[in-house]
Amino acid sequence: MQPKRTDRLELPKPDAISASHSRKVAAAIRVAIDAAGGSISFAEYMQHALYAPGLGYYSAGAAKFGAAGDFVTAPEISPLFGAVLAQQVACVFAQLGGGDLLEPGAGTGALAVSVLRKLRELDALPGRYLILEVSPDLQERQEQRLRAEVPELLSRVTWVAQLPQNFSGVVIANEVVDALPVERFRISAGKVLQARVSAEGPRFAWSYADAPAALQKAVTQIESELGVEFAEGYESEVSLSARHWLSDVADAVSTGFIFVIDYGLSRREYYAQERHEGWLRCHFRHHAHNDPLILPGIQDVTSWVDFSAIAEAACSSGMTVAGYLTQADLLLHGGLQEELADFSKLSMTEQIKLSAQVKLLTLPAEMGENFKCIVLARGDLSVPPALGMSDRMHRL
Ligand SMILES: C[S@@+](CC[C@H](N)C(=O)[O-])C[C@H]1O[C@@H](n2cnc3c(N)ncnc32)[C@H](O)[C@@H]1O
Repeated sequence: MQPKRTDRLELPKPDAISASHSRKVAAAIRVAIDAAGGSISFAEYMQHALYAPGLGYYSAGAAKFGAAGDFVTAPEISPLFGAVLAQQVACVFAQLGGGDLLEPGAGTGALAVSVLRKLRELDALPGRYLILEVSPDLQERQEQRLRAEVPELLSRVTWVAQLPQNFSGVVIANEVVDALPVERFRISAGKVLQARVSAEGPRFAWSYADAPAALQKAVTQIESELGVEFAEGYESEVSLSARHWLSDVADAVSTGFIFVIDYGLSRREYYAQERHEGWLRCHFRHHAHNDPLILPGIQDVTSWVDFSAIAEAACSSGMTVAGYLTQADLLLHGGLQEELADFSKLSMTEQIKLSAQVKLLTLPAEMGENFKCIVLARGDLSVPPALGMSDRMHRL
C-alpha cells in the first residue's frame, strides 16, 4: 500500500540496530561498487539493497509488513481480499476439474491463509499451494503463520525454489512485480543514459553512463510505440526484470490464469511527459519518499508497474490478456458483496472494523484506483466472474 508521501527530511530516525544493519548493507554495496570499477547500475543497487543474502531488506529480518514495519499490503489489511481472489480461483478450478495454486512472493503468508480458508469453505481446495519465495526470512514467517492459522491445510503447501513445469491452475502475484529491480534512465543531449550508483564518502550518489544495448533498445521502443520523444532531462524506469520474470512465469503455465496485482498503470500513463521523475517509491516506517540511495537494506524500494509491458511479455509467451481492471472493480465485481452478506449480523465493533478495511481496499484515494489487476490466460477457459465487467484492457 502507498503510505502518505513525505519529505525525506521528515523521515523518522532508524533505531540503533537498524542503523547498524544499514551500515553493513552499505559496506557490502561499496564492495560491489569497487569491484565494478566505481559504479553499479541502479538495478544492481536495488538488487543488493533488497535481496543481498542475509543483508537485503527482504532477505534479512526487518519487520517490513504491518504497524511495526514500513508498509501494509491488501492481504494484510483484510482477509476479504484473499476471499474474493479465492472465488475467482474456485471458478477456474471448476472448469479445470481441480488445479494447483502458485503464489510467488507470499510476504507473511496472509494471502495464503485467507485464500486457503475460503477455498476450503467453497470445497475447492487446490491440489497443491506452491509458494515461490526468494526471502528465507519470509519463508520462515510464512510457514509459522500457516502452521498457526491453518495447521490442517499445511500439508497442501509446498515451498519451491524454482517455477514448476506444466503448471495447471492459478498464479497470484500481489505486490511482487513492484519489488523487482528496475533500470533507471535519463535523456541527455538526445542520448539514453543509464543511471548508476557510485560511492561518495559515506553516501551513495547518482552517476550516468551510456545505456547498455538492452536498456537503450527498451527506451527507444517505448518512444516509438508511444510516438513521443522524451525531453532533455526526462528520467524514468524500465523494468527489464519484470518482463523476464513474467515470461518465465507464463512459460511455466500450461493451462490457467495468472493474476498480477500491483500499483501501476498503462505505458502511456507511465511515460507521460509530465511524469519526468519516474515512479520510484521508497517506504520507511510508513513514510513514502523517493530517495532510494539512503537507508540501504532497511527501507523498501519499489517502482510502479508498467502493465503494458506485463501484457506484452505474456503475449510473447503465447498467453492472452483476459482482463485489466482496478483493484476496486476486482473486488466489487468479484464477490465482495457475497463476503459481506452477514454484515448486519455482526457487532457494531466488527462492522466498523470491516467498513474501514473495505474503504482502504476500494476507495479511489486509497488502494482502489492506483492498484490494478491484470489477468493473463492460457487455454480455452471462460473468464472468472470479476472480469465480466469494468474491463480497462483498451488502456493497455
Ligand atoms: C511487497 S512484498 C508482497 C508480499 C505479499 N505478496 C503481500 O501482498 O503481502 C514482495 C514479496 O515478493 C518477494 N519477491 C521478490 N522478488 C521475488 C521473486 N523474484 N520471486 C519470488 N518472490 C519474490 C519478496 O520477498 C516479498 O515476499
